[in-house]
Amino acid sequence: MGKITIAIDGYSSTGKSTIAKELAKVLNYIYVDTGAMYRAITLFALENKCIENANIDHNKLIDLLPEAKLKFQFNRELGYSEMFLNGKNVEREIRGMPISKEVSKISVIPEVREKLVSMQRKMGKKKGIVMDGRDIGTVVFPDAEFKIFMTASPDIRASRRYKELISRGEKVTYEEVLKNVRERDYIDSNRLSSPLLKANDAIEFDNSDMGLKEQFERIHYYALQVIEKQKKNA
Ligand code: DC
Repeated sequence: MGKITIAIDGYSSTGKSTIAKELAKVLNYIYVDTGAMYRAITLFALENKCIENANIDHNKLIDLLPEAKLKFQFNRELGYSEMFLNGKNVEREIRGMPISKEVSKISVIPEVREKLVSMQRKMGKKKGIVMDGRDIGTVVFPDAEFKIFMTASPDIRASRRYKELISRGEKVTYEEVLKNVRERDYIDSNRLSSPLLKANDAIEFDNSDMGLKEQFERIHYYALQVIEKQKKNA
């Protein structure tokens, strides 16, 4: 009763998923990380040799797409869902640099977007969902009751991402991560199919100078207000 749809969009490494995950937990909503879906399709493309020397064989990938079966499976210990590609847990693999380097190129392909957007709409049919990505408030759920658009400076995002990758044991340089953040910003914002845009009715949230606790408290407060309003109008 009174459940809403929460869309969290924004630039890469703005901490969307951390906030979205926490929000879903306290509201007892489903959490969907749509970036994980684009990352899993990128892994599928690499495994099936649809990407070679950074070139994408679009026709081959489009032909093979029906064979890419994605599934989120809830992990009780971790408290969130992990991504499975054709029955295999790929959660760790899809977060590394090899996937980050190619994912923006895969997510410009309209056939890939069509497949994933249709899955996302099915997952959110009953509301009670927090979904994060790039086009959730504009394309996937334009009628979402609560929309947030997260931003932060590229330097801050690169430094957060760099720390995360290093803590996972990846060998990367800060410059390499910053270059990847900038490239993804450019491709995500300039692609023809569903570019990264702030929805007119989304709240812009710059978290460059804000810790996680403060971000969460503010967003949670806004969300509760929208849910209350929804209940009154029901
Ligand atoms: O949120 P993320 O960094 O894990 O997303 C990985 C890439 O997937 C990102 O560079 C753009 C793409 N993406 C997208 O195009 N649409 C979405 N809804 C989510 C992600």
